[in-house]
Amino acid sequence: ARKRGYMIFDTHAHYDDESFDEDREELIFSLKNKGVGTVVNVGASVASTKKTFEIVKKYDFMYGAVGIHPEDVERLDESHMEWLKSLAADKKIVAIGEIGLDYHYDEPEREVQKKWFARQLDLAYELDMPIIIHSRDAAADTLDIMKAHHGDELNGVIHCFSYSPEMAQIYLDMGYYLGIGGVVTFKNSKKLKEVVKMTPLERIVLETDCPYLTPEPYRGKRNDSSYLKYVVECISELKGISTEKIIKTTCENAVKMYRIK
Ligand code: NI
Repeated sequence: ARKRGYMIFDTHAHYDDESFDEDREELIFSLKNKGVGTVVNVGASVASTKKTFEIVKKYDFMYGAVGIHPEDVERLDESHMEWLKSLAADKKIVAIGEIGLDYHYDEPEREVQKKWFARQLDLAYELDMPIIIHSRDAAADTLDIMKAHHGDELNGVIHCFSYSPEMAQIYLDMGYYLGIGGVVTFKNSKKLKEVVKMTPLERIVLETDCPYLTPEPYRGKRNDSSYLKYVVECISELKGISTEKIIKTTCENAVKMYRIK
């Protein structure tokens, strides 16, 4: 029989993505034999949130997050907030996300992004649920809006953390977890490696963001949760902690963060 050890918890996946259309079911079923115990599928648009809800209903080891990513907030209105609220009432839905700000491209307008980020933070507060934050090239505004919209009272994860060690410390002090994935294995990720070294293991969660951000040595290929073992190895080397301990502790962190019973 297979040795019963701790299994990897992928806190951020997008198995609703069309790149999984060919083999979604087969791939998801194969994860348990590849050391992956739990997956949270994260909504990003109205369509992917809808699909996330359907997918997590099908698999006992999958949970979901519902929310609208900053790149998809353009056509939102209040009825979408009511809809998110109704989905969030389901016990398989464990967080509001991914929500935040992304200034990498010029659209949607920053004011529109800010409005719906704030609105969804308020929603998470109202529902008493953890949040999944997406923030790219928008460090100062993200923190400002969080501070103004219950950020100190909410908890959750700064997904695909990409800022400085100083900014990491601010979020750690606020009680947030940092989501670490494939990027940490990239040669040019010096800053993130510093962040991983300084962050207590008790505050790190593993994430793929699959199908994106595949770790080395498979960078560029389609990502899935089984590739997290390369992220685990990288964190293990950076922190001088065994891979078993990394898997066990990050799993416990994720269960606590998402309040999974
Ligand atoms: Ni994502």
